[in-house]
Amino acid sequence: MAVDKVRILVVDDIAETRENIRKLLQFESDVEVVGTARSGKEGIQLAQELDPDVVLMDINMPDIDGITATDTIRKRSPYIQVVILSVQSDQNYMRKAMLAGARDFLTKPPLGDELISAIRRAGEMAHAERAKGAQQQISAVSGSQNVAAGYGSVSKGRVITVYSPKGGTGCTTIAVNLAIALNNEDTRVALVDANLQFGDVAIFVNEQGKNTILELAPRVDELEPDVVEEILINHGASGLRILAAPQRPEMADKISTDQFSKVVQYLQRMYAYVVVDTSHILSDVVLSMFDISDAIVLLTTQEIPSIKNARLFLDLLQTMGVAKERVVFVMNRYDKRIGITPERVSENLKHEISVAVPLDEKIVITAVNRGVPFMLDNKAQPVGRGILSLAEAVRARLTALESEEEASGKR
Ligand SMILES: Nc1ncnc2c1ncn2[C@@H]1O[C@H](COP(=O)(O)OP(=O)(O)O)[C@@H](O)[C@H]1O
Ligand SMILES: [Mg+2]
Repeated sequence: MAVDKVRILVVDDIAETRENIRKLLQFESDVEVVGTARSGKEGIQLAQELDPDVVLMDINMPDIDGITATDTIRKRSPYIQVVILSVQSDQNYMRKAMLAGARDFLTKPPLGDELISAIRRAGEMAHAERAKGAQQQISAVSGSQNVAAGYGSVSKGRVITVYSPKGGTGCTTIAVNLAIALNNEDTRVALVDANLQFGDVAIFVNEQGKNTILELAPRVDELEPDVVEEILINHGASGLRILAAPQRPEMADKISTDQFSKVVQYLQRMYAYVVVDTSHILSDVVLSMFDISDAIVLLTTQEIPSIKNARLFLDLLQTMGVAKERVVFVMNRYDKRIGITPERVSENLKHEISVAVPLDEKIVITAVNRGVPFMLDNKAQPVGRGILSLAEAVRARLTALESEEEASGKR
């Protein structure tokens, strides 16, 4: 961890306020804004994910107000110090804030010096509290391998890799729309394109031409959450964070498997789910994803070659020592007029198809060509409902695996 820098999370629903605070603090070498949140709820979540020293907290916000959020954050992480920033200089608010565990109270807009000295005081307090806590726990915690230093208390996010051994089966379609279905305020999702040569995740969401993995890979050993957030594409319409593939196939070689896998593991510290789209070709990068995946969504269609390849892939996973339970088997482009049913395929491959996502060329192709995933504007249609069932199936599988692992004391 950077030595004794005070790490700050700003929670305020007004973008201008967040920006002003950032500006006020940008030249202070001993403080660093590591994240911003737009509501009490998001603030609580980010406080847990980013583990800041100090939270600058607004009071009036949509969903959860700043006082309740302060209370929750302090209960979960007592060493985090909260400084309330509010237009109300009302005694009553101040009292409530203090009771909720806030350390200081400033009226908006804060003066630069006033703000900085309040942050330094709170930061010192946070560091002291942390040091105390660490000493108490020194014997309890050992050998934890946090990639992101300072992420101490956060549970690891889940990696979900979507794979299809046959081209054109709908891997990218499913990955993008599944990521949207899994993403909400409580479980934020990063979508990663592991098809390094011909990745088209960015095109599916009309965000081509922006940052890619090329910007992140060289810095893999010195990643910080705010650097990562800056490089990931922020897809406004869905709230997804996206790590795009290089823009040209010849650039794929610049990314080593080790770098790629480290980046994905770092994202696991920041997001509840990391959804990975893959190429059909089993590159080393794609293979490395199976090693670190909590769940693998394997796609087939109703076509014999696709089913044959799914079988070969299931065999390969077995050889690799990946547990069968990790595979959520899905039939995409399902057309009930065709006699090869999910049941028959399940029986034939001795692996149950969990979900069938129906064929709907009009919706799916239009969505791709517009760059607007159908889960954003058509999720009530059968194909969208298929994706929702898939998201449920994935969540259920992860929960089941987790309780199994807990029972056997693995994770
Ligand atoms: N459920 C579906 N219904 C209709 N068309 C689909 C469906 N899923 C995918 N497609 C179409 O299939 C084609 C291949 O999809 P894509 O996601 O690019 O596959 P992959 O990534 O496996 O190559 C695209 O034209 C896409 O619109
Ligand atoms: Mg694809």
